Amino acid sequence: MNYSKILKETLNLTDQASIFMKSERSKFSNTTFETKSHNSFVTHVDKQTEEFLIEKLEKLIPNCGFIGEEGGEKHADKEFVWIIDPLDGTTNYIHSLSPVAISIALMHNNKPVIGVVHEIGLNEAFYSAKGEKAYMNQKEIHVSKVSTLQNSLLGTGFPYYDYDRLDKYMALMKEFMHTSHGLRRLGSAATDLAYVACGRLDGFFEYSLSPWDVAAGAFIVEQAGGKVADFSGGDNYLFGQEIIASNNLIYDALLNEVMKFMA
Ligand code: IPD
Ligand code: CA
Ligand code: CA
Repeated sequence: MNYSKILKETLNLTDQASIFMKSERSKFSNTTFETKSHNSFVTHVDKQTEEFLIEKLEKLIPNCGFIGEEGGEKHADKEFVWIIDPLDGTTNYIHSLSPVAISIALMHNNKPVIGVVHEIGLNEAFYSAKGEKAYMNQKEIHVSKVSTLQNSLLGTGFPYYDYDRLDKYMALMKEFMHTSHGLRRLGSAATDLAYVACGRLDGFFEYSLSPWDVAAGAFIVEQAGGKVADFSGGDNYLFGQEIIASNNLIYDALLNEVMKFMA
């Protein structure tokens, strides 16, 4: 399989999808959305973008499977499976805020081989393929070189439906408010991870995420020299609904804090 070629074609598709998403946004009112469940929203743009991507990606790799946020699983046991979030940051999108990203990962036998996070607000595509470096709009990217939590800027997401661990999470955030440069809640986990990959953020942690939120971004972080894990330091971050990501230098300290508060 020629991953470089498939990556290029995937980037072509996210270019096209981002034009559609922006043009729909300009015609939009804040009330043009449906509620899937408490605080979980979807628009016709999420749905149509995913349909467009699936139709085109199916042609790139015949006989592949899909895990998509809006369309669910289709042949997810195939050798090649695309994991897609057509619009990561729907709440931002509805409120005309950035970031908003298209997130696409290609898995081969459950291991990521391509990742694309295309943030449409700044029109920045972050991407990598197996055996290649990580890039943002053709420029090579790396995780940051910040070596202490005290000097780190951290990204996170606020729980908005799964409040079971909220008190522990608030305590963890309180700790970081005292012991880091600060916390950011950008509203798109895929973008958070892409920003760790390019060094804008030094670390990221969040729970209750789905595979389509993190598959592409986590791969790009690793390709850019960073580390990704679940809240126990294991590798169950794709389906395990907990993730931390950072550069190598603050990884142990970040994981220690997360373990201390979230155990
Ligand atoms: C959401 C975003 C957000 C995160 C949520 C996700 P969506 O994705 O990534 O940053 O905090 O947990 O569900 O619903 O906008 O695709
Ligand atoms: Ca998402
Ligand atoms: Ca989404």
